[in-house]
Amino acid sequence: MTAQWIDNRKSLMFFSGRSHPELAEEVAKELKVPIGTQVARSFANGESYVRFEDSVRGSDAFVLQSFPAPLNEWLMEQLLMIDALKRGSAKRITAILPFYPYARQDKKHRGREPISARLVADLFKTAGADRIITVDLHADQVQGFFNGPVDHMHARGTLSEYIKQNYSLDDLAVVSPDAGRVRVAEKWADGFGGKPLAFIHKTRDPLVPNQVTSNTVVGDVAGRTCVVLDDMIDTGGTIAGAVRLLHESGAKEVVVAATHGIFSAPAAERLSSCGVKEVIVTNTLPIPAEKRFPGLTVLSIAPLLARTIQEVFENGSVTSLFDGIA
Ligand code: R5P
Repeated sequence: MTAQWIDNRKSLMFFSGRSHPELAEEVAKELKVPIGTQVARSFANGESYVRFEDSVRGSDAFVLQSFPAPLNEWLMEQLLMIDALKRGSAKRITAILPFYPYARQDKKHRGREPISARLVADLFKTAGADRIITVDLHADQVQGFFNGPVDHMHARGTLSEYIKQNYSLDDLAVVSPDAGRVRVAEKWADGFGGKPLAFIHKTRDPLVPNQVTSNTVVGDVAGRTCVVLDDMIDTGGTIAGAVRLLHESGAKEVVVAATHGIFSAPAAERLSSCGVKEVIVTNTLPIPAEKRFPGLTVLSIAPLLARTIQEVFENGSVTSLFDGIA
């Protein structure tokens, strides 16, 4: 152990907003560092307040926040934490967003709309974030919205390892729930040793949020264990529609793997009644008891986040974390 290493260790400071304390505790435990102490509260009119209890001067600060509802409040809290770190002379500030808020609004679908995902990136830059760590962005190009390094991590290793351990790969097919995610599904299919690929032709009404119609399955899924992949499950409409269609097309069973379990109502109801065998997600977002349902498995993203923080802090290689991922 060198003196240089000891000096570096001293400067890593890990902080968490109030949205997902369980995940913060897991990450801190993996890193073997304490969560920095702070005062955080909301005023009666909805304004947020934060203050760090200890000096942050010269620190390499990592600030974790998740984004369940009320998402805008948590976003503001994390921005205030970053502003306080900047004004408290932290040496480098990394915002950790296991789930990037507003990522689905990454382009103008119609005239006179905002590009909200870009605005979020600008807000983090303005607050003082030097870099961002995030997991499975809705679209890869969101990385480029932030003017600085973005470590875009993937939950594929965590999710696919679970599937390998719990399902036979013999008659497996990988299914994308829409045409936009076929490239991702292709990587999964390759990782499983070259499995057949299918996708669902899905349409949505641009005037009605979360309203989707699953039209038809493209590809042969008859007699197969179908693994449907998505970045997120919100109201469950996309997944429930896909599961029904796959069964109608002769699938033997349907398993779903998604990184972010938002589970806005009526997701729990839809997913419990659509005939899916298992829904596997990670804990990038908190999943309280009322959002859980039979057949739900939640895997921890904390080891991946902790390893990423470690690599960033030690100027190691974040890319190396993907080596050997099936
Ligand atoms: C869409 O492009 C996304 O990848 C998800 O499939 C979608 O946002 C999930 O929303 P919901 O669960 O409400 O259908």
